[in-house]
Amino acid sequence: MKILITGATGTVGSAVLEHLKSLGMDAVGAGRAAAVDTSWAQLDFAKTTTFRKALKGITHLFLVVPSGYKDAGHIQRFLDAAISFHVEHITFLSGRTTGDVPGRMLNTVEEQVRKCGLPYTILRPGWFMQNFALGLAEDIRQEGKIYLPAGDAKTAFVDVRDIAVAVEKTFLEKGHQGKTYDLVSQEAIDHYEVARLFSEALGRPVEYVDLSPTDFLSLMLGRGEGEEGLAAYIYLFDLVKTGKEARLSADLAELLGREPKRFGAFVGDYLAIWKQ
Ligand SMILES: NC(=O)c1ccc[n+]([C@@H]2O[C@H](COP(=O)([O-])OP(=O)(O)OC[C@H]3O[C@@H](n4cnc5c(N)ncnc54)[C@H](OP(=O)(O)O)[C@@H]3O)[C@@H](O)[C@H]2O)c1
Repeated sequence: MKILITGATGTVGSAVLEHLKSLGMDAVGAGRAAAVDTSWAQLDFAKTTTFRKALKGITHLFLVVPSGYKDAGHIQRFLDAAISFHVEHITFLSGRTTGDVPGRMLNTVEEQVRKCGLPYTILRPGWFMQNFALGLAEDIRQEGKIYLPAGDAKTAFVDVRDIAVAVEKTFLEKGHQGKTYDLVSQEAIDHYEVARLFSEALGRPVEYVDLSPTDFLSLMLGRGEGEEGLAAYIYLFDLVKTGKEARLSADLAELLGREPKRFGAFVGDYLAIWKQ
């Protein structure tokens, strides 16, 4: 078994690559950077010329579509190439809400994966806990604030380290072909509770500031974020506010054979990131 991990510099791909390598599996990371050794493959979905080298000898594919990626045609061409290289299984990282919405990119790619004729598993993760250790980390560290337009709706988060284990299971165990799994922890909490967990763990106040979509937009534009990406965020937080991200599921616990990590445990594991 030789596994290609796309999006391997990203939040989930890097966790998957690290996890599979820690098990001694033959896993190759892929992204747009040039390959320096055999553990990396250069892959750009927009450049078919990169497909051949990246897919040579690959039996299992973990597919991540970059956030905001627009061209489903590129992904179809990559899937066609995977077919021609006789890939035996694709595990695709979709999204819980967008996977459900016809016309959204992740929904379109789900359909492409289902129709491509190769054995597949689709993973639909909730919001990543690690978002708080990345883009949201600075505000927590510097100001003790979490600025989001999430209202008081609950969210079932997921720790990407658990996603990595789920990916491993889809490749190593039988019975996951043709299945779609919701990957979330077994608790749904609102962002006031998220802030409380941070305050408790850090021993200083952390406040959730529930911004209106307009205020969130102005804050992020002021910080130099692109308007297009932000519009997508507002759309996603609208879905959060409808409560769709609060739905619990036993899929991840069943895949892992244990309870998925809870938010409090995630904060404890990454504490150094938010310490002043
Ligand atoms: N954030 C969440 O809470 C959440 C929740 C559910 C689902 N999702 C979904 O999860 C996926 C994103 O996962 P993530 O956060 O791990 O990704 P990410 O951190 O945004 O990383 C995206 C990856 O895609 C690679 N990439 C960018 N452009 C590429 C191209 N043209 N060809 C090939 N690779 C390219 C990047 O590598 P290089 O830049 O090195 O090339 C990077 O490794 C998205 O589909 C998102 O919608 C996110």
